[in-house]
Amino acid sequence: MTTTESTKTTGATVAPARIALSGVHKRFGALEVLKGVDIGVEPGEVVVLIGASGSGKSTLLRIMCDLERADSGEVWVNGVPLHDRKRAPEIFGHVGMVFQQFNLFPHKTALGNVTLALLKVRKLTRAEAEERGRAALARVGLADKATAYPAQLSGGQQQRVAIARALAMDPAIMFFDEPTSALDPELVGEVTGVMRALAEDGMTMVVVTHEMRFAKDTADRAVFMDGGVVLEQGPPEQVFGNPAEARTQQFLHRVLDT
Ligand SMILES: Nc1ncnc2c1ncn2[C@@H]1O[C@H](COP(=O)(O)OP(=O)(O)OP(=O)(O)O)[C@@H](O)[C@H]1O
Ligand SMILES: [Mg+2]
Repeated sequence: MTTTESTKTTGATVAPARIALSGVHKRFGALEVLKGVDIGVEPGEVVVLIGASGSGKSTLLRIMCDLERADSGEVWVNGVPLHDRKRAPEIFGHVGMVFQQFNLFPHKTALGNVTLALLKVRKLTRAEAEERGRAALARVGLADKATAYPAQLSGGQQQRVAIARALAMDPAIMFFDEPTSALDPELVGEVTGVMRALAEDGMTMVVVTHEMRFAKDTADRAVFMDGGVVLEQGPPEQVFGNPAEARTQQFLHRVLDT
């Protein structure tokens, strides 16, 4: 089934969107974490999610990349409806994920980490996987670290290997959940620099981050989450410079002061 056909069957306008969510609810036991989220991300768009701890940013991101399922509402990724479990495998090739913790295998080299899924999931030959893996490492500026083990790399370099691992799968969209939060401050720039280059190459990205400078100079849209809903969204300069909601102002004062 094509995207166009999928669109027809639900009436949702997902055709050009990389992601479309409508009316997404999620609860963990008695706690209602997402209370009806509607959001769309267009191809090539860079969206940053901001909001206080516990506002539901990670949960929303995890639902977008199918690590968590919504209780109700619709989620489409690259034209594939996630409620159609038979088609869920189609989206795995479309999404790349990068988290705060790099989750590299310590006993594998940088290239070994980057090629693992290409070999095991994509079933590429070793030569093909290594060619793609080296290209991905080059893209994050680590061509010379292919044979290094994670313990021999800085935190920033390890996170760039994790980004290369996601890129090697040739994703249509990348999700980042606080990719620089575990890094020493002086290493943040090398990771946001790689992310900025990806954005300039036209990658569709959804990024949970507290890096306001990255958000301001790279994002097309900032989305402020509060208590499980999208309270406010717009161009970063507007959301950061002239927020409409008092809750957004309070949040920005807190993060900009610390
Ligand atoms: N698997 C889970 N089981 C139970 N509660 C959960 C689970 N995952 C998240 N929560 C709760 O849901 C709420 C939202 O969590 P979430 O991780 O989405 O927030 P967040 O905005 O990413 O916060 P932070 O900025 O601290 O990362 C929190 O109260 C959290 O404790
Ligand atoms: Mg989180």
